[in-house]
Amino acid sequence: MNDSIVFTLNGESVTLEADKERSLLWVLRTDFGLSGAKYGCGESLCGSCTVLVDNEAQRSCQLTLGNINGKSVITVEGLANKASLHPVQQAFIDEEALQCGYCTPGMIMTAVALLHKNPTPSESEIVDEMDNNLCRCGSYKRIVQAIKSAANGLREEA
Ligand code: FES
Ligand code: FES
Repeated sequence: MNDSIVFTLNGESVTLEADKERSLLWVLRTDFGLSGAKYGCGESLCGSCTVLVDNEAQRSCQLTLGNINGKSVITVEGLANKASLHPVQQAFIDEEALQCGYCTPGMIMTAVALLHKNPTPSESEIVDEMDNNLCRCGSYKRIVQAIKSAANGLREEA
C-alpha cells in the first residue's frame, strides 16, 4: 500500500503516493531525474549521495521517503539561482577541485552544510568535517582550498 509523502524539494512542495520505505537516493534519481546525488557505496561510507535535509548534510542512501516526510530536501541541483552558481559550486570550479567529478555533489553539499553552521571554519575543521567524504581521484587538497575560498567569498558578501 502506498503512503502519502509531502516534502519540499529544492524549494518546491511535492506530494508523492509511494511506499514510505523507498530509498530517498533512488527516488531523487529515478522519479525526479535529479542525478547529482550519486550511488557510491550504499552503506554510509563514501558521502557521494549527500543532500541537505533541513540544512543538515545527510546521506540519502540511508534515508527513506518516510524519513523526509514534512522536511526540506535540497540537492546539488537546487543550490544555484537563475543568475549564478552557489559560491561553493563556483569555488570548486575556480579551484579545479575535482577530477572525474563523481564525489563532487556530495562534497559540495557537505561543504554547504558546514559553512551554514560554521561560516569561519579553520583548515582543520574543514578537514574534520569532510573526512568521511571519499574522493577516489585524491582531489582533497583542492577541495579544502575551494571550501576556504568559498568561506572567504561568503564572508565578503555578508
Ligand atoms: S552512497 Fe551513500 S554514503 Fe556512499
Ligand atoms: S573527483 Fe573523482 S572521485 Fe572525487
